[in-house]
Amino acid sequence: MGGSGKTTTSINLAGALGNYNKDFEVLLVDTDPQGTATEGTGFTDVYHSEDVSLYDVLTDIDEQQKVNDLILSHEEFDVLPSHELMFGVERELQSSPKTEERLDGVLDALERSYDYVILDTPPHLGPLTNNALVTADGLVVPAKPVRRSIRALETLFEQVGIIEKHFSSIDRLGMLVNDIQYPVDGDTQEMLDWFTRFEDGLGVYQIRNRVAIKRAWNNGVSIFGHEEECDMEEVYDEFATDIVAGTRQEMIIDE
Ligand SMILES: Nc1ncnc2c1ncn2[C@@H]1O[C@H](COP(=O)(O)OP(=O)(O)O)[C@@H](O)[C@H]1O
Ligand SMILES: [Mg+2]
Repeated sequence: MGGSGKTTTSINLAGALGNYNKDFEVLLVDTDPQGTATEGTGFTDVYHSEDVSLYDVLTDIDEQQKVNDLILSHEEFDVLPSHELMFGVERELQSSPKTEERLDGVLDALERSYDYVILDTPPHLGPLTNNALVTADGLVVPAKPVRRSIRALETLFEQVGIIEKHFSSIDRLGMLVNDIQYPVDGDTQEMLDWFTRFEDGLGVYQIRNRVAIKRAWNNGVSIFGHEEECDMEEVYDEFATDIVAGTRQEMIIDE
């Protein structure tokens, strides 16, 4: 589902992990053809460039090594940007057999080793999200506290189950209830309670609607890389701390 905060979560969790330990090597991968994470980290020009892109390394196995030339250095973490050509990548992947492990192969070709790789995903379930689920060790699920999230989450977890049957299992790292507006009305409170009960043992993190989050985005950084104070840093930091305690490496942000 679009607009639940996948990209916001990806950028700020990447920022939180880099901030948690300055020695951590963190990579943010933008698998969404819309390139919102690429734009939100200040690389809009690369998204439109004529050069080799994520599209090429995903569609041509012989080009996989070139992923090393695609990595961009951001002040907080590294970025593997999306590209406008990515709108055609799902059709390409669907036209050949056994393409679920393309992204896994591309990330394996990285010469630099990362402590944490964060995969931002498109708003729909399809070949790109499947590729991300296949390569990910862990799953972070952002969702808005609204009723329509229930069906979207059920569909997502069904798909995760299918992928796990054919590939390896994926750790549920946590549910991030995003964009909570205060004061909380009855409907929102009911949804917050529902999320807390959703799955036993799954950490639930609550992020409120904050203009500071938007402003950091507009400046191409996470709230950790933005000079403005934001009280939500504490929540992302808690999430990052729990992830570090679980020692997972590649995580997908989806809902
Ligand atoms: N907690 C928040 N506070 C303020 N704005 C938010 C928050 N979460 C998301 N947004 C804004 O909502 C919009 C959609 O969020 P985004 O992360 O792009 O969702 P998705 O990637 O799931 O489509 C963006 O403009 C983003 O800046
Ligand atoms: Mg997005």
